[in-house]
Amino acid sequence: MQKATGDITILAIESSCDETSAGICKNGKIVSNIIATQKVHEQYGGVIPELASRAHMQHIVPVTEAALQKAGCSKTSLSAIAFTQSPGLIGSLLVGSQFAKSMALALNIPLIAVHHMQAHVLANLIDDPQPGFPYLCLTVSGGHTQIVLCESPLTMTVIGETIDDAAGEAFDKSAKLLGLPYPGGPLIDTFAKEGNPGRFSFPEPKIPGLDFSFSGLKTSILYFLQNAGAGNIYKQELTATEDEKRNFIQQNLPDICASVQARIISILLNKLKKAAVQTGIRNICLAGGVSANSGLRAAFVETGKKEGWQTFIPALEYCTDNAAMIAITAYYKYLAGQFADLKITASAREELQ
Ligand code: KG4
Ligand code: ZN
Repeated sequence: MQKATGDITILAIESSCDETSAGICKNGKIVSNIIATQKVHEQYGGVIPELASRAHMQHIVPVTEAALQKAGCSKTSLSAIAFTQSPGLIGSLLVGSQFAKSMALALNIPLIAVHHMQAHVLANLIDDPQPGFPYLCLTVSGGHTQIVLCESPLTMTVIGETIDDAAGEAFDKSAKLLGLPYPGGPLIDTFAKEGNPGRFSFPEPKIPGLDFSFSGLKTSILYFLQNAGAGNIYKQELTATEDEKRNFIQQNLPDICASVQARIISILLNKLKKAAVQTGIRNICLAGGVSANSGLRAAFVETGKKEGWQTFIPALEYCTDNAAMIAITAYYKYLAGQFADLKITASAREELQ
């Protein structure tokens, strides 16, 4: 196997869920990041694993070719191939991992396996200004919600995480209850901009330590719609008909979205404040798909000013799933000589550590 001596140029493949992405990192700088989003799932209200795998198979070659072209790189100039090894949908991961392994074998260059959640945390190292170490990262995605203590690019510990739903699921499931299509997170964000976040109050769960819980929020929204739709906001009668609920949602959608979003944000930021106090760390980052939420971004920056934090948020294209974050992580693994054997397999679930 050849290890490059000059430029370090890494092609990375991300295929853990419903985004097929290829990106290139040259000497620690991202020079391309191509993302093909799978629209096929919208009509089903969630990601259908089998359809995701098939779409990855269709997209992976053109997306990789586009990434090479945008970066002005040839395959033979690559120093290593990286891929998302875990966690994710196994069929989706298999498409990316087999593709990456084949390329590494054919080009006779090293293979680098990357943990998707580690990559979300390191998305903060793509652009300047970068956080100094140690930093805390609140990673909020469709499948995970974690507070990670990051001591160096390759040394990180999860110090808090959700015990049930992830923050992205809280957004998507709330949106579903409101009759909005999948993925509902960005739609709640849009409607919330026009709404009053103080109009309706949803309960904040009392979970000890730095862990989160979002499943109760979904239940409280369900009951709220059944009460409020029948004009019984403060009673527990649950008597609204489907038509009444629909009308109530239609008349109050921006206020409901703003109130739900405000509660999700307060749950997240209250735990992040607690983590900052407990660790004494003042470099604080956001990461993951939900960090694209405009309300969370604004509240995070505002909280940072009050608490005396240095705050960092990746550019939008590096918040949702993307190969650039896999490429930057692979760059640090390359420097540390952390290569994978071609026998490595993808894994649906693997803890960060
Ligand atoms: O990190 P990501 O792209 O994929 C996973 O690894 O899960 O996160 C996807 C999640 C979805 O739940 C989606 O609804 C949410 O991120 N999301 C948002 C916004 N944009 C994406 N949630 C709220 N507001 C947004 N603007
Ligand atoms: Zn993700």
